[in-house]
Order: sequence, then structure tokens, then C-alpha cells
Amino acid sequence: MSPRPANAETIAEAARILRAGGLVSFPTETVYGLGGDATQGEAVARIFAAKGRPSFNPLIVHVADRTWVAGLAEPDGRFDKLTRTLWPGPLTLVMRRRRDCPLSELVSAGLDSIAVRMPDHPVAQELLRTVKRPLAAPSANASGTVSPTLAAHVHESLGTKVDLILDGGACRVGLESTVLDLTQHTAVILRPGAVTAEEIAALIGPVKVSAEDPALPKSPGQLASHYAPSLPVRLNATSAQPGEAYLGFGDETGVSLNLSAKADLIEAAANLFAMLRGLDDATRFKGIAVAPIPATGIGIAINDRLKRAAAPKH
Ligand code: TXA
Ligand code: MG
Repeated sequence: MSPRPANAETIAEAARILRAGGLVSFPTETVYGLGGDATQGEAVARIFAAKGRPSFNPLIVHVADRTWVAGLAEPDGRFDKLTRTLWPGPLTLVMRRRRDCPLSELVSAGLDSIAVRMPDHPVAQELLRTVKRPLAAPSANASGTVSPTLAAHVHESLGTKVDLILDGGACRVGLESTVLDLTQHTAVILRPGAVTAEEIAALIGPVKVSAEDPALPKSPGQLASHYAPSLPVRLNATSAQPGEAYLGFGDETGVSLNLSAKADLIEAAANLFAMLRGLDDATRFKGIAVAPIPATGIGIAINDRLKRAAAPKH
């Protein structure tokens, strides 16, 4: 579907689509985002499916206001110092997830942290205020292609895979936001962007830059593995052995949990991390057996993550 000019009417329509679990591309000051309701696992799964990413990387969650963050994450004093000056703007902050965080676990790709930013673009802000839900939004381009700074780029890359493209003109910054990890004692820049290390250091003191030191944490997309259950995981199983939990897929009996009884890969992706966590309980099981998952569409990313979960622990 062709881009539509962003105005009160199209933003209201975009908000309806998002609340119903659909996908909307919207402009931010950095690049166009491919947005979905971060509280709905299947909406988040649709983002991965539309981008055709072969793996699950955690996504940035966009908020309308600093006050939204308290319900999602555990901000500290550095959050206040940074956001007072640099929000709204191209700075993403990674913080610990609240235990009762209402967002889908897929948004964090199973991690205990969450990346949040408040975009400085009137269309993005108006959309967030209208939806009244945090939006997960990676850049609105197919995996492996450059990030879109015009609505026409989104249309070329993802035209058929998104329910609505809001056209808000060219993006001012044209480069993705800086990602800053605040889960460490000393903050770490995981992804350089428009906000510089100097600007950050002026507000909260010394910061480290991940790319400059191999010992520092990396952006999860660059890591070989992140979330993995502590129990051993056995793939392509057709039933559980004694003591094992069985994570099924499709019309099966004898499952401990089922990723999708109707064999829907979007539903399976939405359930993946929460169900692995649910079964990762050494007081009940000695391992997790997982049914075969078709390696098509988003099934490729599901299999990628399962393979990492099953890799020998060290
Ligand atoms: O400028 C931007 O940030 C754009 C616009 C649309 O806002 N969005 C964007 O989103 O680039 P995305 O989802 O493509 O970027 C995700 C980046 C990745 O580098 C990812 O590894 C990092 O943020 N990230 C997300 N969640 C994280 C987490 N829990 N811990 C560490 N890094 C995280
Ligand atoms: Mg991107």
C-alpha cells in the first residue's frame, strides 16, 4: 500500500491498526520505523516476519513520554540526568526490565533488559499518544538493506508487508539512534549514533564504547548467543523422554506447553521465549525437548534461536 500523508485522520487510522495487532511504518527523526504494539507478542512477531530477519534481535521500544518508562523498566538517576536534556531525541537507553513489565518477551528477545527511546518527531509523538501503547519499531527496511529515510524507501522495501505507511517527509538525522547500556555500573555505548559519547559523559560521567574494547558487552545482534535456558535443550523431538518437558508445535498430545496448537509460526514466535522460560525449571524437569519447527518464514528465526538454546553450555 502506498504511503499516505501523516495527518489527524491517517494517524487515527494507524492507531486502530496498531491496537488490532497490525504494522504501521512511521517517521522518526532518525529513520522510518516499522511499528507494532510492543504489548502484543504476535504483533512483535509480525515485525520480524516482515523484515525477514533470520534471527531475533531485541527491538527498541518507543514511548510518548518519560513517565511511560517507570511501568516498563528500572530507571536510575542516570536516566533522569540523560533524559532531562536528551529526550526526546536519538538516544536509546537499555535498562533492566521490570518483573511485571507488560511488554512481550519477544521484544527483548528473551533478555532481562529493555531498550527504550522517546522519538523527537511530531508524527511519531502524536501516533504514540493516540495509540497509548509502547511501540516496538526497528528500521522499516527488509533485513540486509539500508535504513529508510523517506516513506518511498519503506514502500520499496516493505510495501506489501505493512498495513499503513505514514509519510512525514525526510528524516532529519538519517542515522539510527545511539544505544546506551545503563545496566552496567559504567554506561556502555552499544551502537554509536547521533548523540555522542561526549554529550553523554557531560551528563553522567565517563562512558565506554563497546566497539573499542572486545571485553565490553556487545549489542545482542552481534553476539553468538544471548538468552539460553539453563536446562539442556533437545531439538526436533517427537516426544519427551522420562523427566523431560515437551514443548510442542501443532496438533499434538502429551505436550507440557504448545508453541502453537494450530501450527501458526507467528503465534509460535510470540510464545517462544515465555514458554522456554516457563519450562526452564530444574525442580520439575531435567531437560526440554522441542518439536520440529518448519524452517520457513519466521520459522527460520525460531530455529536459529532454538539452535543457540541447544548449544552446549559453557
Ligand atoms: O533510530 C532508531 O533507533 C530506529 C528508529 C526507528 O527509532 N530504531 C532502530 O531499532 O534502529 P532497532 O530495533 O533496529 O535497533 C535495535 C538496536 C540493536 O542494535 C539492538 O541490539 C539494540 O538496539 N538493543 C535493543 N534491545 C536491547 C537490549 N535489551 N539490550 C541491548 N541492546 C539492545
Ligand atoms: Mg536497522
